[in-house]
Formats: sequence, C-alpha cells, structure tokens
Amino acid sequence: MSSTPEIDTGTTADDAAFWTTSFAEWLPGPGDSLLRAYSDAVNKRLLDRWLPERCGQVLKTDLFDEVAGDGLVRFLLGRADRVIGIDIAESVVGVASARNPRLEATRADVRSLPFADATFDVVVSTSTLDHFETERDLGQALSELHRVLRPGGSLIVTLDNASNPLVALRNVLPYSLLHRIKLVPYPTGVTTGLAGLQGLVEAVGFEVSDVDAIMQVPRIAVRSAGTVAVGDPARVDRLLAALLRVEPPRSLPFHRRSGQFVAVRAIRRPSESAARKDRPQTISAPSRLSGGPRAIAMRVLGRTIYRRLIWMELDLDQRPAGLDPSVPLEFSFLGVADLDEIAAFRPGLSRASAEERLHQGHRCFGARHDGRLASTRWIATGWAPMEYLGVAQKVPSGTSFLYDLYTDPAVRGLRIAPATASALCRVLEEEGVRTVTAAVHPDNAPALAHGKRYGLKPVGKVGLIRIMGVRRWFRRSC
Ligand SMILES: CC(C)(COP(=O)(O)OP(=O)(O)OC[C@H]1O[C@@H](n2cnc3c(N)ncnc32)[C@H](O)[C@@H]1OP(=O)(O)O)[C@@H](O)C(=O)NCCC(=O)NCCS
Ligand SMILES: C[S@@+](CC[C@H](N)C(=O)[O-])C[C@H]1O[C@@H](n2cnc3c(N)ncnc32)[C@H](O)[C@@H]1O
Repeated sequence: MSSTPEIDTGTTADDAAFWTTSFAEWLPGPGDSLLRAYSDAVNKRLLDRWLPERCGQVLKTDLFDEVAGDGLVRFLLGRADRVIGIDIAESVVGVASARNPRLEATRADVRSLPFADATFDVVVSTSTLDHFETERDLGQALSELHRVLRPGGSLIVTLDNASNPLVALRNVLPYSLLHRIKLVPYPTGVTTGLAGLQGLVEAVGFEVSDVDAIMQVPRIAVRSAGTVAVGDPARVDRLLAALLRVEPPRSLPFHRRSGQFVAVRAIRRPSESAARKDRPQTISAPSRLSGGPRAIAMRVLGRTIYRRLIWMELDLDQRPAGLDPSVPLEFSFLGVADLDEIAAFRPGLSRASAEERLHQGHRCFGARHDGRLASTRWIATGWAPMEYLGVAQKVPSGTSFLYDLYTDPAVRGLRIAPATASALCRVLEEEGVRTVTAAVHPDNAPALAHGKRYGLKPVGKVGLIRIMGVRRWFRRSC
C-alpha cells in the first residue's frame, strides 16, 4: 500500500497556480533555442552515461524541458518500457503530452506523489528540486522519490550548483530583475553544492554511486551566442557542437565549481528486511534523520551557515590492543595498480580523484575479505583535507590524518573498519608516526562508534561559519 506522506494541499494548489501563471507568461527570448538545445544535449549525455541499458519504468519529475525545447522524453523512451512524466502545472502537462504521444503525463506535486511504493525502476529529476522555498521541501521531495523507487532502482538528480559563483550570484539577485532581463524563466530556490546534494540524498536512504558537475558554459553566454543564430538552425547546430566541446575533464579542481548543475546518481538500498535476510549477523544502522529537534536544526544550519566536525585523536603509544574483526581480513596499502578497483569500490570517488590523491602523497589502506575489497581509508600527512568544510588544516609532523573511510554496505557492522584502522595504526607506529587524527561529522554515528572502538578520542571541533558570503573558520578544544 502506498504510504504517501502528508503535504499541505494548499501549498500544492498555490504552487500549481503559480507555475501555471509562470508558464503562461513565459515567452522564449531570442537566445532560448540554443540554450534549450544545450540543456537537452548536456542532460542526454549524462543520462547516456548513467542510465541502465534497459530502464523498465521511468519517472520524470517535471516536463518543462518538453515544452521549452525538444526535451528528454524521446531519449528516455529509447531505453525505457514506459515513461511517466509529472508536472505541477496542468498546462505544462497538456503541452508535453500533446508533443509526446507515448509519454504518460499526469499533474502531480513531486513532494507528494500519487504512486504506490516501489513503482519505478528509474527516476530522472533534472533541476526540478532546486526551486523550492525551503530545504524541508527539497528533503520531502527526495524522500518521495526514494519511496516510489523500487529497492535497487536508480535516481539521477541534478540541481542548480550553489558552488558556482554565477549561480550563487543569480540566486541572491531579485527575481523580478532577472525575469525582466530574461535571464531566468522561473524563480530559483534553495539549492546546494555537490557535497550537500550527496548528503541530502544519502540522508533519505540512498547509496550514492556517481557525482558530477555539468553544463560548463554560463547560461548568459549561451543565450548571447544564441541571439546571433536566431532563425538559422545550421548555425545553432554549429554553436551547440562548439559548446559541447567545453566540458573540462572531471578531474580538474575547478570542474565542480564551474558546472551550472550538480548531478548525483544514487541507488535505493535494498530494503532493511531483505538486507537482514541476507546477513543475519549485522545490526541495523541508526537512522540519519534521528536525533531530536536540536540535531535536525544543526543539520539544516550545516547546509546554510554553520558546519562543524569533531576533531579526534589517538596517541599511538596509548592505542588499545589490536581488534579482531568478525571475518578474516587481509590488509595492504593500495597503489596505482589498484586505482580501478578503488574507484569501483568507493561510490563518489572517481579514478582520477583517487590518482590525484596518490599523486599528492596520500596513501590508501585497504582490507580484503575473500579477495574483495571490504574497507578502505586514506592517510594524509602535512595537511588534513576536509572536503565537507572546503578547507585543509595543517597537521604537525609525526601526525597522520585518516580520512574517507568506507566499508562495503554489504559487510557493515562486522567491525571491519575498526580492525582495519587498528592494523593501520600498528603499521604507522612502526613507521615512526606518533599520533593519528580524524575529523568526523557529529551526526555520523557509525563513524564515531567505529573510531571510539579503535581508540580515537574527541579533542575539539573544527568548523566554518558563513554569513552573507563571509566565511570564518574556527577550531576549539573540548
Ligand atoms: C563508518 C563506517 C566506515 C563503519 O564501518 P564498519 O566496518 O561497519 O564499522 P563497525 O562494524 O565498527 O560499525 C560501526 C557502527 O556502524 C553501525 N552499523 C552497524 N551495522 C550497520 C549496518 N549494517 N549498516 C550501517 N551501519 C551499521 C553501528 O552503529 C556500529 O556501531 P555499534 O556496533 O557500536 O552500534 C561505515 O559505516 C561506512 O562506510 N559509512 C559510510 C562512509 C562514512 O560515513 N565514512 C565516514 C566518514 S568520516
Ligand atoms: C523547476 S523547473 C524545471 C527546470 C527544467 N527541468 C530545466 O532543467 O530547465 C520548472 C518546472 O517544474 C514544475 N514544478 C515546479 N514545482 C513542482 C512540483 N512541486 N512538482 C512537480 N513539478 C513542479 C513547473 O511547473 C515547471 O514546469
């Protein structure tokens, strides 16, 4: 039976009226045909890479692409048995279905979907969820997408990239001005960067498998280029081909900032009961949404103005005795020859990023069970990279910073990560390292539990306060 969550129907009705009016008032500008062709082409490239070969039943979460340009539905129908499209505005649904007879379109609010649990094999959400007024709506929509996907099904979601300076600027300028100069056809809303999107998607129960930032040329530049090609389809095609060549390698450091959109591919984890049936020895993980009003408020703040990590340390001469895992493990450092395996193992870490880490002198320590990687973690010296805060903190000599630990979800709860850390500490001590440190998110109960198990103790907090674009770092002892 469907467990559709409650959503204020007044809100849906107001938003439907608002979007219907926005659509009725929207008149494409002279550069829009190039912009829409570019948007479609970039999205199709992403879908081509990330969609399964055969998709079964697909949900698309808005139909604006299908009324503003060619859209993505025809491409999706090439891979899917059925494509079901929704949009909150009836008029958008009407135009999109008239143009795409095989599309099954219906009016619905993505925050409260009229579909039973586990209906879809794939959900495609291209920039639908970045137009809400509150983060709560964004979380609500992601929970709905999780609910209607079958366990093991894929979500592909993109949002306006809050880390892109032009997008950030656009989001603080008055909508009336932007609309008047035809820079945006509709109002923008709450959005986030890549790490934030990954966190939000994981928080509702997905396992992230890939991340990317797409559409590297700013809208304003595309629109300006498009104005010179009005009424000349051959010229539009040539400009489009040129635009598509400007996608820098995903490994370049600025790539995540220069993309107009952040994109995440995630898998709905197999259901709790199925996981328990397969692995009766594991303990179920605490929900990341637990923790009471204070914890929830801190999470909301974490995505807006306040982020902090718990700084933990262990003096190796005081480390507890070695820990035994519940399954046999083989430990080793992984190197360049293992890059493909590392990237295939760790969702969200590309081969190029792993290679870059090795290039910077970081090391990767892994545990194998039955010959397959079960857990990995990275070791840095000199500087402690903290992607969540966007900074690197200096660490003294004789100290190693342990980061990006990851255990295969299929074998979590078996003490593999603490046993791996314990084996690593023994090796590091033999190498002359005196202290290991780590920075852990206060809500990450499994990571905190595993750290305490091998002897890490909280010694302080490190964080970031950002108000009106001004950033201030802090580090406090506890
Ligand atoms: C943190 C992590 C590496 C721990 O790995 P692990 O090998 O499962 O470690 P442990 O067996 O000691 O389990 C640690 C805690 O995970 C939780 N846990 C138990 N079973 C679990 C399961 N099936 N799934 C998820 N978490 C589980 C428990 O809280 C457990 O502590 P407890 O036994 O005291 O209650 C792993 O959960 C992970 O890869 N998480 C995703 C990546 C991440 O958050 N990294 C940390 C960044 S700082
Ligand atoms: C949010 S944007 C879509 C952007 C488009 N996919 C793109 O990449 O340019 C506007 C579209 O989303 C629809 N929409 C807005 N809120 C919605 C909601 N809560 N549920 C479903 N569709 C919604 C609007 O009607 C409109 O067609």
